[in-house]
Amino acid sequence: MPGHVEKLSWLNPRTLWAARNGVLASWFGDPTGRTRSRWVARRAEAGAPADKVIRREVPDRFSFMVIGDTGEGDDSQYSVVPGFLKAGQDTDFAVIASDVIYPVGSADDYGTKFFRPYQDYPAPIYAIPGNHDWYEDLGAFMRVFCADTPPLDPEPAPRPLTRAWWRARLWHRPHPTDGQHLAEAWKLRSAPGQQAVQPGPYWAIDAGPVRIVGIDTGLLGTIDAEQGAWLREVSRGPKPKILITGSPLYVDGEHHPCAIEGGGTVDDIVRDPEHHYVAAIGGDIHNYQRYPVDVDGRTVQYVVAGGGGAFMHATHTIPRVSVGHVTERDFRCYPLRGDSLAFYSRLYGHRLRLRRFFTLTESEATAVVAEQLGIETGRAPGPDARVTRRTRLVASLLGTGGRPDRTSRFRLPVRKLYTQLFSPGSATYSPPFFKCFLRLDVTPQAVRLRCFAATGNRAQELDPPVEDEVTIPLK
Ligand SMILES: [Fe+2]
Repeated sequence: MPGHVEKLSWLNPRTLWAARNGVLASWFGDPTGRTRSRWVARRAEAGAPADKVIRREVPDRFSFMVIGDTGEGDDSQYSVVPGFLKAGQDTDFAVIASDVIYPVGSADDYGTKFFRPYQDYPAPIYAIPGNHDWYEDLGAFMRVFCADTPPLDPEPAPRPLTRAWWRARLWHRPHPTDGQHLAEAWKLRSAPGQQAVQPGPYWAIDAGPVRIVGIDTGLLGTIDAEQGAWLREVSRGPKPKILITGSPLYVDGEHHPCAIEGGGTVDDIVRDPEHHYVAAIGGDIHNYQRYPVDVDGRTVQYVVAGGGGAFMHATHTIPRVSVGHVTERDFRCYPLRGDSLAFYSRLYGHRLRLRRFFTLTESEATAVVAEQLGIETGRAPGPDARVTRRTRLVASLLGTGGRPDRTSRFRLPVRKLYTQLFSPGSATYSPPFFKCFLRLDVTPQAVRLRCFAATGNRAQELDPPVEDEVTIPLK
């Protein structure tokens, strides 16, 4: 890690103010589609392939890594690096699935949050942007991943007092000096084997027997019409496909099909049997979840893999799963809900100076989660696992199961507040961090997908544990 790390606080008004463009886009109209289109045109002028397909010469059997929501630059990001390098040592490339750089995707943050942590990863790294990468109009992302694309020319000023005018007045823009140190940082990943050039923020990679399709869901988790038309085009044909997206399609027990401007959804495209998608992997939510959804007799693996660096999002707030015919029997997550609840009980005990009341052991948390959600937990609760009025109350205050149930009258009105305000403030600086990343091993017959954990503890750095594994047949 660098000697000095500025700890990122999501409760700091300066951080929140710098990250205001998402809110402005939802109030005054979202300019992302237009800006993205200008970036893509810029890349096309520079000779990027019109179909935006990267053709990688790899053998029939190859492997790649997927890691989501990486760029916080602190202990929780760096704790993932040793295990990532170990588990990924013979892989052909890696993909960062959203939020490469927090808080606002600045060029000067790429040194400590991208080039430095992955300097020893010997292969190329491709990326799709998350909402945070868009907070400065994607300029730094385009420079780093798309052949050092220079900034866009300013747009003509909108008519005064229109919505676009208000938006332009309040819009957050990169600092004029931003990016002065980028060339220096770039040297950390300057080996020929590490270079990757993308045709734009969305792309496809043809590699061996599969096509990997990466989409850019922008500031608000949607797709513009131009990108939608491209997505329909590259999704055609019998080659098995894997979608990588900023906004996961199944997450926290819910289905979010992801609207395309002008009609239809990304999930319509994924489910279409003509398109042969076998998996859809999304970032944005900072943990691991897997939903094997039955789509007319085929199984499509919908995965959330945003646990690659930034603060952990709770899993104990996920209600008992019943979505797309996926139930608790087939649903998988990391961290396990009991561990997530124990983690947050420690955090709040510490923060509210009520340790004795709040803190639950892993066993207590596991037992109370099992009772409250009526599920069998991934790990059996230990011998001290008594469910008491206190453990029930703590579980309920911390949002176990997401929805308020009839028995808990004292519940904080928090699901929204909890995930938006408290959870992002939950970065802690001592292990375990409950981080994770994916390795996919592809053969002509099957894709083996594994979720590895990174905790920040030495034992798991040396031998990263597999928390979930599934083999996806291609034939
Ligand atoms: Fe994120």
